[in-house]
Amino acid sequence: MENQTEAKKVMFSGIQPSGNLHIGSYLGAMKNWVALSEQYDCYYCIVDEHSITVRQNPADLRRRSVLQLAQYIACGLDPQKNTLFIQSHVHEHAELGWILNCYTMFGELSRMTQFKDKSAKNAENINGGLFTYPTLMAADILLYGAHYVPVGADQKQHVELTRDIAIRFNNLYGDTFIVPEPYIPKVGARIMCLSNPTSKMSKSDPAGCVFLMDSPDEISRKFKRAITDSDTEHCVRYAPEEKPGVANLMSIYSSVTGKTYEEIEKEFDGKGYGAFKPAVGDAVIETLRPIREETERLLADKAYLKEIYTEGAQRAQYVARKTLRKVAKRIGFVEKPF
Ligand code: TYM
Repeated sequence: MENQTEAKKVMFSGIQPSGNLHIGSYLGAMKNWVALSEQYDCYYCIVDEHSITVRQNPADLRRRSVLQLAQYIACGLDPQKNTLFIQSHVHEHAELGWILNCYTMFGELSRMTQFKDKSAKNAENINGGLFTYPTLMAADILLYGAHYVPVGADQKQHVELTRDIAIRFNNLYGDTFIVPEPYIPKVGARIMCLSNPTSKMSKSDPAGCVFLMDSPDEISRKFKRAITDSDTEHCVRYAPEEKPGVANLMSIYSSVTGKTYEEIEKEFDGKGYGAFKPAVGDAVIETLRPIREETERLLADKAYLKEIYTEGAQRAQYVARKTLRKVAKRIGFVEKPF
C-alpha cells in the first residue's frame, strides 16, 4: 500500500511558444496536466529554447511566452501547486542538453520523424538545434526526475528517446536518472486539421486550426466549414479510416464533453452532419470561453505574471541544479567552486 507521506511522483511537460496555443495542444496535453495536477508534483514549462530552432520574431516570442503562462493558469493550473516557468530562465536545461548530446547517437536523432518533417518544411534553415532538439527535451524531463510526461501522440517518439538516453547513462554511471514514461490521453491525442483531416492540427494552417483565443464567431465559422467526408450516408459514425473528418470531430466532441463515441452516434442518429458540426463548435466555444476570459484578465496584470514566472524559475532551478551537479560529478567534471 502506498505510504501517505511518500513523495508525490513527478510530471513534466512543456509547449513551445512558437505560435498561439490551439485545441490540439489543449486536448492532447494541457487537459491532462490540469486533471493530474493534484496527484503529482508538476512542472510545466514554456519551452522558448525549443522555439528558436525555427526563426522567430523576437517581440512576438516574448509576448507569446507571457501569454502562454497566462493560458496555463487560465486552463486551471494553480501556480502555487504547480511549478510554471520559462525554460531559458533555468540555464541548467541548456547545460544538461549539451551533456546529453554526447550520449545520443547521430543515427537516433536522424530517425526522429519530427526532425524529418521540420527539416522538409524549413529546407533553408536546417540548423544544428533542429537536429539536437530531442536531447534538450530529454534534459527538460530528466532534470526534474519526471516519472510521467503528459503529451500528445506526436511527442511519444521523443519521450522514448529520452528513456533510451536515461537508460544508457544509468548503465554507464549507475542510477542517475528516473526513466520517464509518456502519458498520452485515450481521446484527443492527435487532433487533426479541420480543413484537411489527414494532417495534424497545427498553427501553420490557421483556417483548420482553432486557437484558444479565437472568438466564438471564429470558432463557429471554423467548425461549420470543417471538412466532413464525401460519403453519401451522411451519418455520424466513428470510422477513422473511412471517415477521418467525422472521426476527428467526434474525438474533439468526446474530449470536450466526456461523451463516448457510442453516445455521440446515438445523439446524432438520423441528424446528419448539418446538426453535428455546429454542435461540436458550440461545445468547443463553451469549453474555451472561461479560458479566454481568464487569460485576458490575467494579461492585464503583467506584474503578477512576472511574479509567477520568477517564483517558478527559482523553484525549478533548485531541483535542476541538484540534478546537474550529480551528473557533473558522475561524468568527471571538477566540482564547481561556487
Ligand atoms: P509542441 O509545442 O509542438 O506541442 C505541445 C503539446 O501539444 C501536443 N499537440 C497535440 N496533441 C494533439 N493533437 C495535436 N494536433 C497536437 N499538436 C500538439 C504535443 O504532443 C505536445 O504535448 N517538443 C515538444 C515540447 C517540449 C516538451 C518538453 C514536451 C519540449 N520539452 C519536455 C514534454 C516534455 C513540442 O514541440 O510540443
